[in-house]
Amino acid sequence: MSYIFLNNKIIKDSEAKISIHDRALQFSDGIYEVILLNSGNFIDLDAHIERLFSSLAMLKIKLSFNKEELIAKIINYQKKIKEHNNALYIQITRGSAKRVQTLDIASEANIIMYFLDNKSLDKQDILNGFSAITHDDIRWKKCEIKSTSILANLLCKDKANELSACEAILIEDNHVTEGSFSNIFIIDKNNKLITRPIDDGRILPGITRARILKLAQQNNINIDIRKYSKAELFAAKEVFASSSTMLIRPIIKIDEQIIGSGKTGDITKKLISLYQDFLDKS
Ligand code: PDD
Repeated sequence: MSYIFLNNKIIKDSEAKISIHDRALQFSDGIYEVILLNSGNFIDLDAHIERLFSSLAMLKIKLSFNKEELIAKIINYQKKIKEHNNALYIQITRGSAKRVQTLDIASEANIIMYFLDNKSLDKQDILNGFSAITHDDIRWKKCEIKSTSILANLLCKDKANELSACEAILIEDNHVTEGSFSNIFIIDKNNKLITRPIDDGRILPGITRARILKLAQQNNINIDIRKYSKAELFAAKEVFASSSTMLIRPIIKIDEQIIGSGKTGDITKKLISLYQDFLDKS
């Protein structure tokens, strides 16, 4: 039995009810966040809350509480249910309203939270590496919004699942954007860590991505934030995906082609270890 948070009430999930007029049902008119926990501590909570409020602002969804109050609701929910898993899902929709084709409606946002059963993988399994596929980036052009409208992402991920790959790396105009549910980094032959910038709406500004860049900077790993091509992806020495649920996942094969040495590379290993240290200290 799990207890969920719905509009300030903590109730059994089987008893939670929401209107059939909720705008997320009609238009995917909502946003979400997935926040990692390590030993009960939320990881980069403030950054997630910042991004959540930025997604809300871009969709003109108004809340009756501020960032600090939302954090208090999250902590209170975690304390009340005592047992929880290592990732929190938060979804906020515009609320219930008639199916009118405008964002300008007087509705009260619906807020849902629950803990996801996010299985952490064995360290050695992670270091053994994963395979990925490439896929056309078939998404819209506002990928900086963490919108619940992610069916296109899911279609790409489903293709990866069918081929027993862990992620679909999305390609637009012959360049990598990101993964279907992750950001993608490459390391070139000069040991430069390369990832795409976040300023053109083509990728989600990943919280794990930002943390990895900070750790890399503090540890003298050369960084180059720029667009990179599909050819550079295949020519890379190392490739990895990052997200709050995958953490850092080495990718050693793409479209059945071996990447680099075919093994998790040294810089990826170093970043996995730095990220683990960061988690342990959080
Ligand atoms: N997804 N890009 C996309 C398209 C994503 O869906 C995600 C995360 C990321 C990584 O963001 P972060 O490091 O903040 O988790 C990048 C979450 C985990 C999900 O939808 O389950």
